[in-house]
Amino acid sequence: MTVLVTGAAGFIGMHVAKALLDRGERVLGIDNLNAYYDPALKLARLAEIEGRNGFSFDRLDFADRDAMAAFDAAHPDIDRIVHLGAQAGVRYSIEQPFDYLQANLMGHLVMMEMARARVSRGLKHFVYASSSSVYGANREIPFSVDDRVDRPMSFYGATKRANEAMSYSYASLYGIPTTGLRFFTVYGPWGRPDMSPWLFTDRILNGRPIEVFNHGQMRRDFTYIDDIVAGVVAALDHPPAGSAESPPIATYNLGNNSPVALLDYIKVIEAACGKPAELIMKPMQPGDVLETYADIEASRRDLGYQPTTLIEVGIPRFVDWFKRYHAI
Ligand SMILES: NC(=O)c1ccc[n+]([C@@H]2O[C@H](COP(=O)([O-])OP(=O)(O)OC[C@H]3O[C@@H](n4cnc5c(N)ncnc54)[C@H](O)[C@@H]3O)[C@@H](O)[C@H]2O)c1
Repeated sequence: MTVLVTGAAGFIGMHVAKALLDRGERVLGIDNLNAYYDPALKLARLAEIEGRNGFSFDRLDFADRDAMAAFDAAHPDIDRIVHLGAQAGVRYSIEQPFDYLQANLMGHLVMMEMARARVSRGLKHFVYASSSSVYGANREIPFSVDDRVDRPMSFYGATKRANEAMSYSYASLYGIPTTGLRFFTVYGPWGRPDMSPWLFTDRILNGRPIEVFNHGQMRRDFTYIDDIVAGVVAALDHPPAGSAESPPIATYNLGNNSPVALLDYIKVIEAACGKPAELIMKPMQPGDVLETYADIEASRRDLGYQPTTLIEVGIPRFVDWFKRYHAI
């Protein structure tokens, strides 16, 4: 049988597709290769997996109902869906909220409809990406899946929280085994150009100053891509059963459970680059939160999730990859 991976040309999607291929699964990847960041990077990621036994790719917009209906009809063998495609990024959601509405709300509904139509035909699991951004103004740390998530600080976070509510309704109405994964600041080789590991590395290597928001008074639970991939695959293998009282739906944090102060993290990037950073201190940005910190007890208990990569290990791997990718 076959796993459908959306956002397969994206950072996490490519790595998840690769891990599934590595264990002998058949993987269908879809992505619209949009220009939110350089599509050349998306094509280069695809080149990592295209040609592998068991992989095929379609350039498709998953928010396009007609295109998805045709795709759905052509692929009766899909028995699991890993929906990782989305319009990501906190800051851009303040500038372009409609892109988020289209990809994250319309797109999520189209994907859930596909799952609904298949559940009677043997769909085993619908796994989708949520985000630590759903915790928004939550001040309880570490962030637990039992905490309040009704105060998103960005429209991006609001769309991810909406995905969770939408998924609950479909799991409840149609019995679709569903798992939502709240990722915490994922980094590593093939990462995203709009995220700080890339932005900082790029500027340090090229001798340009970096902007440090809230004067560096922030902490992030940076999570290495291999740990995230292990969590996604473990989640895929554990569809929630549900019970007479509750629908078959689960939500997990996939974080590192070890937040790092922004200035310490910059020191690790400086060491990996072998160059000091020039810092420009800036005020807090709209939409940002002071700290993210994942409580991973439930993920550990139910999925065996156990992140192992310290930033002192993961950041040099990212910087090495970055230099190779840019032939520096
Ligand atoms: N990277 C992180 O730190 C992080 C943190 C929290 C949540 N997430 C979530 O994880 C998922 C994967 O994130 P990522 O970092 O790999 O982002 P990414 O931007 O690299 O990957 C997303 C992919 O989805 C594709 N896409 C977007 N809209 C589409 C559409 N309508 N149809 C088809 N393809 C479409 C994009 O072209 C892109 O390749 C996203 O849902 C994101 O919101 C990521």
